[in-house]
Amino acid sequence: MSKPPPSLMDKIVSLCKRRGFVFPASEIYGGQGSTYDWGPLGVELKKRVKDAWWESMVYSRQDVVGLDSAIIQSPDVWRASGHLGGFADPLIDNKTSKQRYRADHLIEGQAAKLRKKGKDAEADALDARLLGAIGDNAALHALILESGVKDPVSGTDDWTEVRQFNLMFKTFVGPLEDTANVAYLRPETAQGIFINFNNVVTATRKKLPFGVAQIGKSFRNEITPGNFVFRTREFEQMEMEWFCEPEEAPKWYLYWREQRYQWYLDLGVDPSCLRMREHAEDELAHYAAGCADVEYQFPFGWSELEGVANRTDYDLKKHSEASGTALTWFDQENQRHVAPFVIEPAAGCDRTAMTFLVDAYDEEGEGKDQRVVLRFHPRIAPVTVAVFPLVKKEGMPEKAAEIEAVLRKRFRTEIEANASIGKRYRRQDEIGTPFCVTVDGDSLTDDTVTLRERDGMTQERIPVDSLVATLEARIDGWRRPQRRSSAAAAAH
Ligand code: GAP
Repeated sequence: MSKPPPSLMDKIVSLCKRRGFVFPASEIYGGQGSTYDWGPLGVELKKRVKDAWWESMVYSRQDVVGLDSAIIQSPDVWRASGHLGGFADPLIDNKTSKQRYRADHLIEGQAAKLRKKGKDAEADALDARLLGAIGDNAALHALILESGVKDPVSGTDDWTEVRQFNLMFKTFVGPLEDTANVAYLRPETAQGIFINFNNVVTATRKKLPFGVAQIGKSFRNEITPGNFVFRTREFEQMEMEWFCEPEEAPKWYLYWREQRYQWYLDLGVDPSCLRMREHAEDELAHYAAGCADVEYQFPFGWSELEGVANRTDYDLKKHSEASGTALTWFDQENQRHVAPFVIEPAAGCDRTAMTFLVDAYDEEGEGKDQRVVLRFHPRIAPVTVAVFPLVKKEGMPEKAAEIEAVLRKRFRTEIEANASIGKRYRRQDEIGTPFCVTVDGDSLTDDTVTLRERDGMTQERIPVDSLVATLEARIDGWRRPQRRSSAAAAAH
């Protein structure tokens, strides 16, 4: 039997390894399942994601400040926030294969199978029953049996009961491994912001409404990590807690929903693959008065990129009660204490970087003329401009180095002198570099270069002294090109 052609995700995973975006972790020791290391281009991509987020959430406004709180906090933080008691996923084992699954994911998978067979009504009914069963182990178990879910490994339905599995990673602080020294790695960055509420207000004299933004690692002992870097046990979050008067929370909730959705569009994400999904009442976390997910249509289906939630005054109240320190804001004008409500846009950095990779992937042409191209927004591309001497002689490498040194002050640059120009263009296309500059014999006499653009493969002659201004104008005016050729389009 012939091998099936690689899927879009297979191609992206392979490109990521080959070009140095993402490597499987601990590879030389056989790997550490569903764990990844970000390579030289991957860290640049993630840095662009984080910079774009920080620029939009902090630098472009006067009412948001930053924070970098500890990963290991007092366990009391997680007791008060409810994570120790309730941050759990429903787990089920198959007795034959000994495989472990998330019960809700199994049911979602069953609904997806029905949908594939054209049984949309049955799939919708199953999804609806799943919503009603969330949080109820017995109901989830019954639904798995009734809907005929079979273990993908053993093909049997000899399931255990469903039980709750806490996702917190446990560790010990100091040399003694006893209960007094138990600590936890944070499962979200948000709580570090809540517990510093008074510190930030005192230090910055911020008045409501204002926000505190944080980017950092979070850890969850996920039962079923997977889909490349979409769901991992160690990941970076970009979260902002927006504190406001309680009666203004609905207004700010709508505002942040809109802002966050627009952020993805501004960075070039295909609008036809992006949607906002409001949570149904019975999907809401117990502390939330509203929540909407920004979702992207990945090759494996619509999935959450970011949640925007109205967390009410739940967290500040819980920490006030548990710590005995009132986390309230004093309204000088009206001489009253306010327990602020919180609107939280919470995004994942790895997931966003993966979205940009999937969304940017394109293939063009046939056979040996085929090129793979990552159509990143120039602000997201790991390399903005690559400089090539046409040949490695006659003063061209020196001239190219001179030009690259000027460009380097404004853009992320690369200089490449090996292989044919065609091969160099293909490599830069594949890593998503929007501009290439070639220095040839004429450059030495008339001080012009060839500027080649990734998307349209257009080439034009530009005076060296106008390069910086031309590139800046092209970056500002960049528009997402019409996507997308066959394979990439079909996968969405
Ligand atoms: N403070 C709210 C909070 O943490 P969440 O929906 O659990 O909410 C926010 O997480 C975002 O963090 C998600 O939308 C996703 O982008 C990212 N995220 C969560 N779990 C993840 C995981 N296991 N792997 C990668 N990213 C994850």
